[in-house]
Amino acid sequence: MVNPFKYGREVSGRQFYDRQEAFDGLYSKLAGGSANVVMYAPRRYGKTSLVKKVLARFSEEGVPCIYFDMNRVETLERFCEAYASALYSLVGGAKGVAHAFAEYLLHLHPTFSFGGEFPVSVKFDYGGKMSSVSLAEVLGMAEKIAVEHVHGPIIVAFDEFQEIRSLSPDLPLEGIFRGVIQEQQNVRYVFFGSKTHMLKRMFGEKSRPFYKSAATIKLGKPPEDQSRAFVAERFASCGIGVDAAEISRIVEVSANIPYYLQELSSQVFDRVVSAGRDWVEPADVDGAIDDLLAENADWYFEQLKGLPPSQRILARALAAEPVREFLAEYRERHSLGVSSTVHTALVRLIDAGIVESDISGYHIGDPFFARAILMPPGEVGLPAAACGDLK
Ligand SMILES: Nc1ncnc2c1ncn2[C@@H]1O[C@H](COP(=O)(O)OP(=O)(O)OP(=O)(O)O)[C@@H](O)[C@H]1O
Ligand SMILES: [Mg+2]
Repeated sequence: MVNPFKYGREVSGRQFYDRQEAFDGLYSKLAGGSANVVMYAPRRYGKTSLVKKVLARFSEEGVPCIYFDMNRVETLERFCEAYASALYSLVGGAKGVAHAFAEYLLHLHPTFSFGGEFPVSVKFDYGGKMSSVSLAEVLGMAEKIAVEHVHGPIIVAFDEFQEIRSLSPDLPLEGIFRGVIQEQQNVRYVFFGSKTHMLKRMFGEKSRPFYKSAATIKLGKPPEDQSRAFVAERFASCGIGVDAAEISRIVEVSANIPYYLQELSSQVFDRVVSAGRDWVEPADVDGAIDDLLAENADWYFEQLKGLPPSQRILARALAAEPVREFLAEYRERHSLGVSSTVHTALVRLIDAGIVESDISGYHIGDPFFARAILMPPGEVGLPAAACGDLK
């Protein structure tokens, strides 16, 4: 029987639930075209799935869209070629496009071929590194395409947008991107990514080029009742019964974060099927939690081992008790030391993607990692050394 749960890559169709409010918010902002949008959400909340769903709607309505994942390119040169390919592919079949493209990018000596990652692949022969002028030209093509070939707006979604910084150590990329984007009238952008803290700095610090340049959308957790209904429906679609108590436990243990909800449910499903049953028992959920902890034990161990003591102690405190403010009483209770030490450790843990913050405060982003941190030494395959010297 095919597992009805999916996790890892973005999801759509019956794998996708809720998000109506965020969908409407993003859709209407982009449709209105009054501002570009930056979307924040902690890891694995479903950003990519949501944005792709909104783009699919625009495509159905005839608005050309590009989804571009910055993680797919390692260098600026590669970005320019891949982005140009995506832009070309939007209008590849239209009359006169090849000629127009060759002209837009004359001194980059573009060549075009069919097939590959995009329907049309653009390669440049620029005889060296990209200059800021060349980059600006490539970015500027989006507006030209919208005006001259689409005759209407286009939408560009940059996933993992915070990574533009790593594309080139030499050029002020944020400034160049911002400079081009702010001149464009017919291209609507949505910026998002899984390193929320970096994006927040990009769009929230006065000294940064993108400061306050986009409307903000915050994607929270789905409503719990929707998550519960989703789990029940998915099991039911395979003829498997699940009681409210087991569903509650799945939602609670996965912290109601879509990725972990699907991952845990998937593991529970496998256990039920291999036991030859058509209902979920409490032991299936417990067993699935243990399986996931054991599966990731090496990774957790590596993460913990790499942390200096101040960060490990803080990670343990946050695993046990998420918090909004590190008041003296909390610091004492968890032997955290003075505020400045806690602050430094906190910033590092956020930068490392271990700690996230939301309205409930600072907490370990991965609810299974939080569990693992609190396990007695040596349990569920987590090596004793990972936990043993936490305190
Ligand atoms: N609306 C949804 N309905 C059901 N499951 C979802 C939904 N959104 C996300 N998920 C689950 O979360 C997983 C990750 O989704 P997605 O890649 O969209 O999240 P993300 O926030 O972009 O993640 P990352 O922070 O790693 O980039 C999916 O594989 C799926 O299991
Ligand atoms: Mg994503």
